[in-house]
Amino acid sequence: MILINHIRQIVCISDSYQSFKIGTDMSNLHIIEDGAIIIQGERIYELGSSNDILSHYSPDNFTEIYDASDMCLIPGLVDAHTHVVFSGDRVHEFAMKLEGKSYMEIQAAGGGITFTTSHVRESSEEELYNLLIPRLDRMLAFGTTLAEAKSGYGLELDSEVKMLKVIKKANEEHTIDLVATYLPGHAVNPGKTAQEMVDDIVNHQIPVIKQLKDNGEINPEMIDVFCEKNVYEIEETKAILEAGKRIGLEANFHGEEIEYLESGVLAASVKARAMSHLENLSEQAIPLMAEAGVIGVLLPTTQYLLHLKTPPARSMIANGVPVAIGTDFNPNMWCLSMPLAMHMACVNYRLSMAEALVASTLNAAASMGRSQEYGSIEPRKYADLVFIKAERWEHLIYQMADPPIAAVWKKGKIVID
Ligand code: NIG
Ligand code: FE
Repeated sequence: MILINHIRQIVCISDSYQSFKIGTDMSNLHIIEDGAIIIQGERIYELGSSNDILSHYSPDNFTEIYDASDMCLIPGLVDAHTHVVFSGDRVHEFAMKLEGKSYMEIQAAGGGITFTTSHVRESSEEELYNLLIPRLDRMLAFGTTLAEAKSGYGLELDSEVKMLKVIKKANEEHTIDLVATYLPGHAVNPGKTAQEMVDDIVNHQIPVIKQLKDNGEINPEMIDVFCEKNVYEIEETKAILEAGKRIGLEANFHGEEIEYLESGVLAASVKARAMSHLENLSEQAIPLMAEAGVIGVLLPTTQYLLHLKTPPARSMIANGVPVAIGTDFNPNMWCLSMPLAMHMACVNYRLSMAEALVASTLNAAASMGRSQEYGSIEPRKYADLVFIKAERWEHLIYQMADPPIAAVWKKGKIVID
């Protein structure tokens, strides 16, 4: 067993995730001052005040003892939304955006997702994997220990499967744990209609995805669609999400980003696990989402880059919609840092720092079905830990682009020091 003692603050999030209401308890952080934590193997064994722990154990009980009297401790950060697998970056489009071209104008001119998709189709699994690994390394250095990862740049069966295989391999081989999302409806291929895409996805792709999942070749757990005007609108999105649900995938989709379509009502009616973006979410959808338990994933980096409306984050929290945060790392928005996304959510959406931390740990873990084992510092959960060298944990968010992350532990092992 390993003991880390005299930690200035252990920010546990909750003392029991089972009784923590991820929608309404977001301001109630459970913090232990001058704390100690015992790790056994990959998991947290016990924690409490240093006095308490030290009075129950002798130094002989431990193989290693660390003093962390200049550190605060938070759970490993969880990134609720990434498109981290791709080739074909879009640095050239950044200048177009600065000149005032909209996201949809760039996409309509053959750029955007269509550009990246043509590169991904040409890339081998190995090339995609080799591009992915350094990105995951950066995420880990910024404190992310669990992330959602989407396909969505194949947009035909073989290339979508290729992306899902890359995610599965990276999950097995890289320190960061990844939860895979199959995103067949990310854009409409040139020359096709949305309905033709839906027919292909529902009748051709999804049965094969199920077969490959059953064989253990890929492991998607969620299904995603870019629900947007002139991309996949409500009925088309619904058809794809429901077909995914029939093979056991949870719905976790993009909605209400650029134009208002009432995707929030759809999310509630299909009992989606989560919906991301939410810039145009209507007030009437909020209680329905709360009732259905849909988690709202905020992506403050993309909203900033594309000058989108401000999502009604305060109203979501006030009405009991659990809010999570993601970086939305993708070739449009290059950000691998959860602390930066958290800072933006605080300043631009008026989340408190406590809310931003819950949104980036326990709630984000819940948005990918992982809150039983990740997202808070509690006995039996994985020892995924981020050490912050500061007087108080809030320095993580306050120090914006330069968070004072001193060490990261993953499943009981030091991985960044
Ligand atoms: O979440 N809006 C749709 N999907 C991504 C962007 C993907 C891309 O532009 O490559 C997002 O922002
Ligand atoms: Fe996205």
